[in-house]
Amino acid sequence: MSTTDYSAPDEREQWGSRVGLILAMAGNAVGLGNFLRFPNEAVNNGQGAFMVAYFISLLLLGIPLMWMEWGIGRRGGHFGYSTAPGMFQSLTKARIAKYIGALGVVMPLLIVIYYVYIESWTLGYAVESATGALGAVTDKASQVSTGDYFETYLGSQGNDSGFLGVAGWIGSHKAYTFFAITAAVNLWVLSRGLSKGIEIIAKIGMPVLLVCAIALVARVLTLPAEEGRSALDGLNIYWNPEQWTALYDDAQAKSLFGIGSAAIWLAAAGQIFFTLSVGSGAINTYSSYLSRDDDIALTGLATVSMNEFCEVVLGGTLAIPAAFLFFGMSGVEEAASGSMGLAFITMPEVFANAGVFGIAAGEYSVAILGTVWFGLLFVAGITSSLALSQPTMAFMQDTMGLTRKKAALVVGGIILLFVQPVILLDGVLGEIDYWAGTFGLVFFSTMEVVLFMWIFGSKRAWKEIHHGADIAIPKIFKFLMTFVTPVLLIGMLAFWGITQALPILSFEKTTGGDIIDPNDPAHMALVDNAGLARWMMLALFAFFVVLVWIAAKRGRFKSLENLAEDA
Ligand code: PHE
Repeated sequence: MSTTDYSAPDEREQWGSRVGLILAMAGNAVGLGNFLRFPNEAVNNGQGAFMVAYFISLLLLGIPLMWMEWGIGRRGGHFGYSTAPGMFQSLTKARIAKYIGALGVVMPLLIVIYYVYIESWTLGYAVESATGALGAVTDKASQVSTGDYFETYLGSQGNDSGFLGVAGWIGSHKAYTFFAITAAVNLWVLSRGLSKGIEIIAKIGMPVLLVCAIALVARVLTLPAEEGRSALDGLNIYWNPEQWTALYDDAQAKSLFGIGSAAIWLAAAGQIFFTLSVGSGAINTYSSYLSRDDDIALTGLATVSMNEFCEVVLGGTLAIPAAFLFFGMSGVEEAASGSMGLAFITMPEVFANAGVFGIAAGEYSVAILGTVWFGLLFVAGITSSLALSQPTMAFMQDTMGLTRKKAALVVGGIILLFVQPVILLDGVLGEIDYWAGTFGLVFFSTMEVVLFMWIFGSKRAWKEIHHGADIAIPKIFKFLMTFVTPVLLIGMLAFWGITQALPILSFEKTTGGDIIDPNDPAHMALVDNAGLARWMMLALFAFFVVLVWIAAKRGRFKSLENLAEDA
């Protein structure tokens, strides 16, 4: 018989409404990954072939992991835990589980450090669009290209000379200024708490995002053809069945895309993790605020569907088709060759060529379309950065006993400190993105699946997911989740580890996949910065491991230790 106290502590936060929960979850998943990362990844990693690998990954990895994380999260919340250390400890007696769980707090925190920075560019660019500054750059007579403008925007910190005054300082430190504003807005929302902060932002933000995105898609699809190319033709880039054989034909993949077949699969799976927010701990935390009897089977699936609609239908129909129409295939490939060029350099040029509402193409169309595009990105970004910060917020509150305001200060302090090298040093962002935002997601997912499906046990896990369910998940998923998903993950981890992570770790390759040349000073600078980034990540992980240890010493995990037996 169970002797465990099953009642959750009363002071735990809860979602205010089901609609709010659904929108917050959708806001968590729908982010910069849908509108910036997805088109880039698809163009650079096999295009039509990428899409096939993408949907297979969605089915075999994404959807199963989503359900598992909702299950692990809701169960953790039921015992009073909003983050992975407690959640993992409740699934097994092994004491190391809570330390592995620390990753579920550190990884989202590491991601949010650079995520908020990129999010702040979208705010900066929305303002620059609205004020007409960006429009002026796209003018034919302008001496500056949109590419130069972006460089200056990013490089605008630190090139001041002498006394500038407040306005002057802001003008020459745009990247810093907008970062500070963006971080402050995030912290303010977080400090208001779950239902009064995050949930309200999602309730306003998600509809706004949808309206903006649909309006832009409508504009892109109705643009008149240029030189015989229409936006619809641009969709062929994603939906070209002739490329499918590249999925297993390495030679074809190499000749078409310059990468092997396996790289296509890894990139597609990596995109699924990132875009669905699975494998980081962020979904677990959000679902911990559900009640014990709330449905997760249908709601989890709804979150996936909304994310895929925003990614494949909306995200897929914006940047690439628009760039294709005006600049052709070579223009698309060039735009997608850097990670941010498409959104910040090419899209302003697209807007300069596209009229809107009877307003001729030019400065004014950039002002209107640019504000909508960058505004939409900002909204998509903020609902995700809140989700990335919430695990640390929750951990500081319910595991370390801090007040919400103090927790927000801790989150803010860490972001402010760690973002400095991200802003100032080349290669730090890429390094953190690789370990926390790419490889780490696969690693953490593997831990979760093994813990939940194998150690906790597939029978109990399946029952957990179905508790309170509004739909019966097809039985085949039990088989997939017990065998296919874990085996695929372990295989990916091994393969990915050997072909990519190890060469990156030993500085043979950059995170972008280039061979490092020890005689190239630019490469060596990257190596130094990447080394620094690794120390930062390790330090942060160590910090959280120590906190978990302290909490354990205080007896915070005591009640969990017998749970695995009698749950
Ligand atoms: N899914 C978000 C996006 O697409 C990013 C994210 C990753 C958010 C991991 C939370 C956790 O932008």
